[in-house]
Amino acid sequence: MTEISATDRARTAFTRRFGVPPRIVASAPGRVNLIGEHVDYTGGLVLPFAIDARAAVALGPSEDDRTVLVAPDLDAETTHLGPPPRRPETESNRRFANHLLGVLDAAGGSDAPIRALVTSDVPSGGGLSSSAAIEVAFATAWAGLHGDVTNPKMLADLAMRAEHEFVGTPCGIMDMLVSAAGIAGNALRIDCRSATWSPVPMPPEDRAVVLLVDSGVTHRLRDGGYAERRAACERAEAAIGGSLRDATLEDVAAAGLDATDRRRASHVVEENARVEAMVAALEVEDLETAGRILFDGHRSLQDRFDVSIPEIDHIVEIARRRVDAGCLGARLTGGGFGGSALVLTSARTLESNRRAIIEEFAARFGRRPETRVVRASDGATLET
Ligand code: GLA
Repeated sequence: MTEISATDRARTAFTRRFGVPPRIVASAPGRVNLIGEHVDYTGGLVLPFAIDARAAVALGPSEDDRTVLVAPDLDAETTHLGPPPRRPETESNRRFANHLLGVLDAAGGSDAPIRALVTSDVPSGGGLSSSAAIEVAFATAWAGLHGDVTNPKMLADLAMRAEHEFVGTPCGIMDMLVSAAGIAGNALRIDCRSATWSPVPMPPEDRAVVLLVDSGVTHRLRDGGYAERRAACERAEAAIGGSLRDATLEDVAAAGLDATDRRRASHVVEENARVEAMVAALEVEDLETAGRILFDGHRSLQDRFDVSIPEIDHIVEIARRRVDAGCLGARLTGGGFGGSALVLTSARTLESNRRAIIEEFAARFGRRPETRVVRASDGATLET
């Protein structure tokens, strides 16, 4: 992670670019999902935490008649005469603006031209919800600019609509809600049906930490596999005649689904149960059980939901062989098709486990994966 915060970089870069300081700066974090994968869009239970890597947006009114949106990290900039357009950008070097334009559109648009600059410490493509972080940061800044009172659910709704309508990802509410509502030291048990949440303590840092290992394979949720998974779950719900959240494995078996849809739906039913089991384990600091639930969750993503990749399976396999060396559990985190694995490791053996994972991964794939320890952090913040 860089030493200068994304917030400070956004403020400085805005002032340099426009010659005046921003009116307001807001930031929001990426996330790691502990457990509860591919269940948010069927109203399931998830257990993510906001991480200590953030996106920041500096915002101000325009002093001429142009809307200018800037992403210095990408060396990209878009300009429009007049207020921000209410349609998505289609050219590849302008698409970054859709995360901002989509939020603005969902919020009712702007009558006046604006200036916004976005920068981020959340790596993109690593499965850490870099997009949600930008959208929630922008939604927070936009609300702040107008002195509007916000709540996390409202910010998350704007961000999700931006994803659906401007970015083109049919995601659920998890990423943006935890980015908006995160609480340091805690994961959030989110009920995605009611969009309500409660904090669940993360393991004390002197006992265990979450190590992220980036597969180096960029995940792209726009590519179709994600939408296919969502469609399979929706077909299953139609056949069952109710929400997968309330369904049992017997309901799934009796619904007359084809073999693939049956595997997808079974994953969802069991994954919801795993979230409750994980909450119970964390509440009593039973880290061995917590770790086993992670391994079980991975197997299900691998065999039933088919969203893992060989690189991530290998990381999880290394961790599985190192249970006696303090690797408590591991799994793919996020939507899959690339991205990162999370490894819950005892704090005492963090460095030896990190080394072993890097070396064994390199022996198989010929390159050393990026790793980082992530800490549960606070959600969106408006800076003054
Ligand atoms: C992506 C989506 C989320 C969620 C996860 C899978 O991160 O953005 O809404 O569906 O995949 O759990």
